[in-house]
Amino acid sequence: MKKTKGIILAGGKGTRLFPLTKLYSKQLINVYDKPLIYYPLSTLILSGIDHILLISTQKDIPLYKKLFKDGKDLGLKIEYAVQNKPKGIAQALIIGEDFIKNDDVMLILGDNIFFGDMDFLRKSREKNENATIFAYNVSDPERYGVVEFDSKGRVISIEEKPKIPKSNYAVCGLYIYDSMCSKYAKRLKPSKRNELEITDLNNLYLSNGQLKCEKMGRGIAWLDTGTPESLLDASLFIGAIEQRQNLKVGCIEEVCLRIGFLKRKNYLKLVKKYPESDYKKYLLKIYEEI
Ligand code: G1P
Repeated sequence: MKKTKGIILAGGKGTRLFPLTKLYSKQLINVYDKPLIYYPLSTLILSGIDHILLISTQKDIPLYKKLFKDGKDLGLKIEYAVQNKPKGIAQALIIGEDFIKNDDVMLILGDNIFFGDMDFLRKSREKNENATIFAYNVSDPERYGVVEFDSKGRVISIEEKPKIPKSNYAVCGLYIYDSMCSKYAKRLKPSKRNELEITDLNNLYLSNGQLKCEKMGRGIAWLDTGTPESLLDASLFIGAIEQRQNLKVGCIEEVCLRIGFLKRKNYLKLVKKYPESDYKKYLLKIYEEI
């Protein structure tokens, strides 16, 4: 089976969240009981990806390294790369060129939270031929890349933050590409906001007849974390689910154990080192249960 690597883009200045982002990047802010980055990381892991490149600013990379080190404790392989200026999502694929090599890559934005049964992602990854993107029905499509479909559900166009959206389907911050993506990304011209737009890359794949777009069903929650209000909403959402189910969302140790990246013995060794906390108690409970 072909291999898919993962890239998490956790760059940007997070200006809309200032002063929360004065000390460190947005993706390190807490969402309920863990740093925001745990959620997209767990999405990659649940898709069956264990080799990941985390891209962030020079200033923040030491903090991420403190969190995850080389990933070995989790049964993962985590590498790091710098994006000093936020020059667009597509730039992550240029930065990651040597990392991607001849493999497919799943790129996720470090501030995107997905909740629900993620099995479809593993399947999409396995089925991907060239490029696969995901569309989600939202109330405010003008804030996103927007996909227009024809009556047979084929993609006609993708527009970045259109004033008059042609549909309610926003492009999620989760993309699967073949190894050509870095070369294609290099061909893009910066947009008006001086970024290499991921929408331009997707349109390039579309014009080659190589883009697939899957609609994410309503059983999946896709949450935004761009403003203090949406950050609070995300915390309340995760908190409500966790308290009701007595199960954690985005708990990377648990996810690595369940998917088989982390052996039981190594899981226990890792968890035993954690300070006394509800998080540790939860991880020990999970160990007994599975
Ligand atoms: C970016 C992309 C946009 C996509 C969105 C998903 O928007 O440009 O196409 O729909 O992520 O979160 P930005 O975060 O740059 O506003």
